[in-house]
Amino acid sequence: MESLTGRPLHPFLRRGIFFSHRDLQEILQLYESGTPFYLYTGRGPSSDALHLGHMIPFLFTQYLQEAFQVPCVIQLTDDEKFLFSKDNSKKLEDYQRLGWENAKDILAVGFDCERTFIFRDTDYIGTMYPNILKIQKAVTYNQAKAIFGFDDSDNIGKHGFPAVQAAPSFSSSFPQLFGSQTNLPCLIPCAIDQDPYFRMTRDVAPKLGYRKPALIHSKFFPALQGENTKMSASMAHTAIYVSDTAKQLKTKVNKYAFSGGGATIEEHQKHGGNCDIDVSYKYLSFFLEDDEQLERIRQEYSSGKMLTGEIKAKLIQVLQPLLERHQQRRSQVTDEMIRKVMTPRQLSF
Ligand code: TYM
Repeated sequence: MESLTGRPLHPFLRRGIFFSHRDLQEILQLYESGTPFYLYTGRGPSSDALHLGHMIPFLFTQYLQEAFQVPCVIQLTDDEKFLFSKDNSKKLEDYQRLGWENAKDILAVGFDCERTFIFRDTDYIGTMYPNILKIQKAVTYNQAKAIFGFDDSDNIGKHGFPAVQAAPSFSSSFPQLFGSQTNLPCLIPCAIDQDPYFRMTRDVAPKLGYRKPALIHSKFFPALQGENTKMSASMAHTAIYVSDTAKQLKTKVNKYAFSGGGATIEEHQKHGGNCDIDVSYKYLSFFLEDDEQLERIRQEYSSGKMLTGEIKAKLIQVLQPLLERHQQRRSQVTDEMIRKVMTPRQLSF
């Protein structure tokens, strides 16, 4: 990637945060020989703002777009969240609205409007429908059950949905964007949880005469409470949201970030902290760009020289300007800009 783009590798790659892939070499070889690719990623709009975990694939996709100067399509699965949510008080229109709001956070990451198409499924599904039908016919109910764990009590919409997430992997789903290029290679950055959709997609691709999409997967960014807990949109203290104020950020880190430090200062100084389970260290390893500083923190915290309060203060110091910059950029994204980026149109390569 470095030699093809002339740019230094993204820290997410240097540090193995994006840690696995399918057919990435093929995409790079094709690119080298003059065949461009397009990027495809997405979001299931379930909350007003994105949390830091959601930002990982978007930050990385934006880097890839800028480095390779390629088009990008971003799917907002308002249909998925409507069908899969257990909260029956939310209406379909609520998920459509959340999709629109999430598009603002996504655009604020810095995507190039001339090269980016963001779409909500409920707006765009018609154009993808021929591909959705072909995918649905190629996957049996048994296969879908084995991959996604559906059972007989699930609503029928859920069973059909995987084909909707699969369809944007094929460039023929975007005739207005790519014109005659109906078999353009596709690269999908996402976290590892989305892989089942694309294993299914890669299985059906040859049956439809299409290229298999390539993937690059990131690890999961942990909840504040630690590695084996889950960030939840309904429990605001489990995650840092890009909309959090400086005060909320500070409180969340100080109060909730799971510590790998010793129980007392004496114990900590004697045995040191455990970076493998310390959430502040984990978060720094995603967002502190300076490799040397990160290594110094690792050594000082592990040896007990740096205290829990100090590593938390460092994390706040790193995240605060990031959130501030994001909020500043988001406030400049207008509804008009969203309307434009959601209009199917020829994208520049
Ligand atoms: P969603 O909204 O759950 O997540 C959006 C993106 O963020 C990733 N992600 C995370 N990455 C790191 N750490 C975390 N804790 C974390 N939580 C979520 C997800 O892997 C995803 O990349 N069904 C999808 C929407 C979708 C999509 C796609 C995603 C449609 N098409 C193509 C990726 C690629 C969803 O509900 O994502």
